Amino acid sequence: MANSRWPGWSEKTLDERTSMLLASGTLTPADLRVLRAETSETLSSADQRVENVIGIHSVPWAIATNFRVNGEDVLVPMVIEEPSVVAAASHAAKLVRRSGGFQAEATAHLMRGQIQLVGCPDGVGAERRLLDEREGLLDLAGSSHASLIARGGGPRDLIVRWVGAMLVVELLVDTADAMGANLINTMMEGLAPVVERIAGGRALLRILSNYADTCLGRASCVVDPNVLGRPGYPGTRVRDDIVAASQFAEEDVRRAVTHNKGIMNGVDAVVLATGNDWRAVEAGAHAYAARNGRYGALATWRVNERGQLVGQLEMPLALGTAGAAIRVQPTVPVALKLMGDPSARKLAEIVAAVGLGQNLAALLALVTDGIQRGHMRLHARSAARITAAAPVEGP
Ligand code: MEV
Repeated sequence: MANSRWPGWSEKTLDERTSMLLASGTLTPADLRVLRAETSETLSSADQRVENVIGIHSVPWAIATNFRVNGEDVLVPMVIEEPSVVAAASHAAKLVRRSGGFQAEATAHLMRGQIQLVGCPDGVGAERRLLDEREGLLDLAGSSHASLIARGGGPRDLIVRWVGAMLVVELLVDTADAMGANLINTMMEGLAPVVERIAGGRALLRILSNYADTCLGRASCVVDPNVLGRPGYPGTRVRDDIVAASQFAEEDVRRAVTHNKGIMNGVDAVVLATGNDWRAVEAGAHAYAARNGRYGALATWRVNERGQLVGQLEMPLALGTAGAAIRVQPTVPVALKLMGDPSARKLAEIVAAVGLGQNLAALLALVTDGIQRGHMRLHARSAARITAAAPVEGP
């Protein structure tokens, strides 16, 4: 895995960054041509992907440095239009790596499909018959997905739930390294007629659930207060103020949404770079933040018995690194290559670490100088560029 500590990277020019990437063998000239759209998405391929296309909207593709996750360095690709996010992530990762980097883990990669049953004349009997047929239904669901089974995935559990007066059949599927939305939808549509026959009702919706609470990413980190200090702000005060900021988000939904938005700045940027469905990740994340009946913080900060700041994040991360859908975008294989071609679970670990780092960077700025100073400097830089490039209007 590439060393992610690239001192001075952010001060280099674009040409210098390019030379460093090539000289280190991190990326090849062909990779860079893809990222620079020379062989990337063309109007005609965009036209094949979605409907009514008339153009392409481009977003910057950047590399965050300094990340160390589970003892391994990783360079993180980020696709994002907002200034400061990449610099902030890299800065937080630099602080965290001084105490060993992020620890992260991902749960099993289980995705959930749902079949909504309506009009069952004997719901209680239907529930019993479905549970009696559980093993057969699981086999049937897997039977037309030999390649998934060969990759170590497959249906793992079938649950029958009551939602008001409706019965809902849920299938939990290990989708291996695929995000699995298409796969689950195909499975649920295939299973529905059999479920209807057993239940005696009508299968209405047959669809993936984006509430990915069986596909979680977790990250934690420990930061010494002495690396948090800056002129006018002693490290122990910054540490305690970050805890107070965390408690604000834990207690107040209005702050929690913004706290989580900052986390999603980092999460979405990597999700986008890796060709994953960021709307799915967003929807799952916010629902998970409200899992206890009140919307709360996805990442929290406390002080441990050694006086160090400890951060923890847990959120659904239904991501894939395999499957045709994510590789349609030509830049995606380059992003995955940069991270050492991770499995879906490893990608979830990296993304969880980025989310936690992004949150640390935001809170660190907020409890000290505020975010506007750095933010406005970068805004001014792009505004100046736009002004310089703007066509001069005629009389
Ligand atoms: C801005 O995009 C994100 C922040 O507002 C997050 C936060 O307030 O924690 C800085």
